[in-house]
Amino acid sequence: MNTLRQIAFITTILITTFSCKEVNTSGASKAINLKDVYKENFYIGVAVNENQILENDSLEATRIENEFNSITAENIMKSMFIHPVKDSFDFKLTDKFVALGEKNNMFIHGHTLIWHSQLSPWFTEIKDSTEMANAMEHHIKTIVGRYKGKINSWDVVNEALNEDGTLRKTVFLDVLGEDYLPLAFKWAFEADANTKLYYNDYNMTNEEKRKGAIRMIKRIQEKGIKVDGIGMQGHWGLEKPSIEDIEKSILDYASLGVKVAITELDINVLPSPWDLVGADVNQNFEGSKKMNPYPKNLPDSIQTKFANRYQDIFKLFLKHQDKISRVTFWGVNDGQSWLNDWPIKGRTNYPLLFDRELKPKAAYDSIIALKLKYKSN
Ligand code: G3I
Repeated sequence: MNTLRQIAFITTILITTFSCKEVNTSGASKAINLKDVYKENFYIGVAVNENQILENDSLEATRIENEFNSITAENIMKSMFIHPVKDSFDFKLTDKFVALGEKNNMFIHGHTLIWHSQLSPWFTEIKDSTEMANAMEHHIKTIVGRYKGKINSWDVVNEALNEDGTLRKTVFLDVLGEDYLPLAFKWAFEADANTKLYYNDYNMTNEEKRKGAIRMIKRIQEKGIKVDGIGMQGHWGLEKPSIEDIEKSILDYASLGVKVAITELDINVLPSPWDLVGADVNQNFEGSKKMNPYPKNLPDSIQTKFANRYQDIFKLFLKHQDKISRVTFWGVNDGQSWLNDWPIKGRTNYPLLFDRELKPKAAYDSIIALKLKYKSN
């Protein structure tokens, strides 16, 4: 066993005994948990769904409070929920989300203002550029303004790029042209000059997309408009992207003078239909053992690979902690993950740090062990 693995092993025993519990050390009360272990490095965030915002499950509420110091709403801030009809917003749940973050003294992240998906249908009916500009400005300023001084950062624009780095064809691009991008950032800034403004996307480690993102951000910056950060959605696999590609991307984005946030971290352990020759994601894989190989539990060998993968990724994050503002997991526990239903519905996936019973997994232990070892170096 190399030193890191030895320390990981010992720490695993310690963590299994102490994590998520109060520990009595010389009369003082102390807990080992993620947010505290990483508190000098970056925020440790989590995406929360409606049930979690409402704190329907007390154990889950405790996990969220104890382990994370930042929250993102998984769905309820998207335009179809928060601004379902043109003249009316629905802030019922978003107010509760913000109240939860405030109660727990968390860094609150807003997701997302301008996105082509989960989009309010009325947006798609707009054909006139002035009307689109007014609608976007009203949308952004009403939401950002309501939470001014409360929501600490925003995904101003989400997923505006194609895989080849060109701009995705959306209703915003169609009606307003490329200017919709700088304008969105400008309006968000005008509504709250202190909140941090991010561009957020997936596959941000792919070379062509990375170059496209950099071109796009530079064009916004050249207009004198503020962009504070790039969100790299970490929807990653057990092997891809490589640590080298993740590192190169963090460095390239940081060279724009912005922070990097890892915004939607999860590690998919299931086979991808795209890796099967001739596979079509729309094919019916229901009940396919090949595509859903671990319906009961994850074999130890994969659990270890998964834990090591998280450890390698976090090692890189620690190396570049000066460039990273926040690492957010896309969900609290495996049962909640969108990856159980995408790209094939009804599979059993294991992408997060807590299992379906909310118990911390070996991956949780591995990233705590890594940090404790890092500290002692
Ligand atoms: O709102 C309906 C509800 O009325 C209905 O009863 C229920 C039945 O399935 O579906 C609900 O809608 C679901 C919605 O989440 C809200 O819960 C949709 O079916 C479901 O497809 C949708 O999935 C979300 C997905 O975005 C949509 O694109 C996932 O939960 C969410 O994790 C995912 O998050 C995105 C990020 O926002 C952006 N980056 C990629 C990431 C993963 O796709």
